[in-house]
Amino acid sequence: MAKGKTFYSCSECGGASNRWQGRCPACGAWNTLVETPVDTVSQSGNRFAALVGTTRVQPLSEIEAKEEDRLPTRIAEFDRALGGGLVTGGVVLLGGDPGIGKSTLLLQALTALSGDHRVLYVSGEESGRQIALRARRLSLETENLRLLAEINLEKILAVLQTEKPRVAVIDSIQTLWSGPLNSAPGSVAQVRECASQLTRIAKQTGIALLLVGHVTKEGALAGPRVLEHIVDTVLYFEGDTHSSFRLIRAVKNRYGAVNEIGVFAMTDKGLKPVNNPSAMFLSPDARGVPGLCVLVTQEGTRPLLVEIQALVDRAQAAPRRLTVGLDAQRLAMLLAVAHRHAGIQCFDQDVFVNAVGGVRIGEPAADLPVMLAIVSSLMNRPLPEKLVVFGEVGLTGEIRPAPRGQERLKEAAKLGFTRALIPYANRPKTAIAGMETIAVKRIDDALRCLRDME
Ligand code: TYD
Ligand code: MG
Repeated sequence: MAKGKTFYSCSECGGASNRWQGRCPACGAWNTLVETPVDTVSQSGNRFAALVGTTRVQPLSEIEAKEEDRLPTRIAEFDRALGGGLVTGGVVLLGGDPGIGKSTLLLQALTALSGDHRVLYVSGEESGRQIALRARRLSLETENLRLLAEINLEKILAVLQTEKPRVAVIDSIQTLWSGPLNSAPGSVAQVRECASQLTRIAKQTGIALLLVGHVTKEGALAGPRVLEHIVDTVLYFEGDTHSSFRLIRAVKNRYGAVNEIGVFAMTDKGLKPVNNPSAMFLSPDARGVPGLCVLVTQEGTRPLLVEIQALVDRAQAAPRRLTVGLDAQRLAMLLAVAHRHAGIQCFDQDVFVNAVGGVRIGEPAADLPVMLAIVSSLMNRPLPEKLVVFGEVGLTGEIRPAPRGQERLKEAAKLGFTRALIPYANRPKTAIAGMETIAVKRIDDALRCLRDME
């Protein structure tokens, strides 16, 4: 093994090499060697003798199970996504596309916290002047907001230890670099090293730490998801930068529920929470056109109504299938089911499907609305007005229930929808005022019911 400060370890098999190589000499995987600092403890000869008695095993029952100390940011939608607020010693990763509003949100949250707690904003991307300017545009109280413009990890760690903030923001983890590593900032080695050093300090000193992470073109946080394992909470910013709505989704949370979302609108005064977001993805003037179907989806604890648009058009070359905000593999499966079990032929057609407003829909309850939007576009016939749909489609053409069906129906009724095409197993036991429900077992039933409605 090398005598130097770093070596290269394989992220697949853990094999080691003293110099970088394209291929791991141990397992033969390509492009997996990552620069790693040499761990001096594991290098020393008798490495266990000195450690005897330095740590203690305890029965779990002896450990006090007390609730986490929460630091609410007082930005209601952000707290909701966090599961009630920041946690002492907890590390949160906030990921998202450039320009979506990560820095804006964290500046707002940190100033809200700065009244009662010591806070520190570490910026590696913007200068102090740029941040001051933004704070002024947002009319924020910045007296107690402490700022450090720095990208060297060791210096930041030193400041964290002397400043002792309760809450600290690192914007962003990809700009930091640690002296002992030769790799460039933003490389897997640097990101991993910086995040784990910062996490260690946060746990030791009880800082609630927020890390900003950029998302690569492939949609993963740069560094093959290395960060997601290290931190306690992973939040992603979603939304179309062209529309003003922004969602924050928790995809991992050791201190709360996942898939809870926070909803914001980007205004000229920064991000404003949207308290009642269920109708925000509906466009009021797009009724009665073919290829449109309204889905009631359930995000965390609340229902959202989202328009699904489909365009089916004769293919000029090899037919294309494209989705925005929905799973492309799932679309291919739905087209096969529609063909096999309902005789809908799209093999010579381009099929495009879009969830309006930049929202990403992961749940299978979107299957039936996607299929109906496609059929509507293919037949060039609009779906009946004031209709909402949800339901999963199985490979045998059956329609499977979605969780929390009642809540979805109630929300749709509240927003003025009068008919719902839903899975048979979701039919309400007591009628919902103003809502006619049509419960179906199979996709051919669903299509027949649609024809009868016209
Ligand atoms: P920013 O927080 O800098 O994004 P990120 O840190 O995720 O890269 O977001 C900046 C974008 O938001 C920018 O395009 C301008 C817009 N914006 C507003 O619309 N209103 C505002 O009050 C602010 C501060 C920014
Ligand atoms: Mg930023």
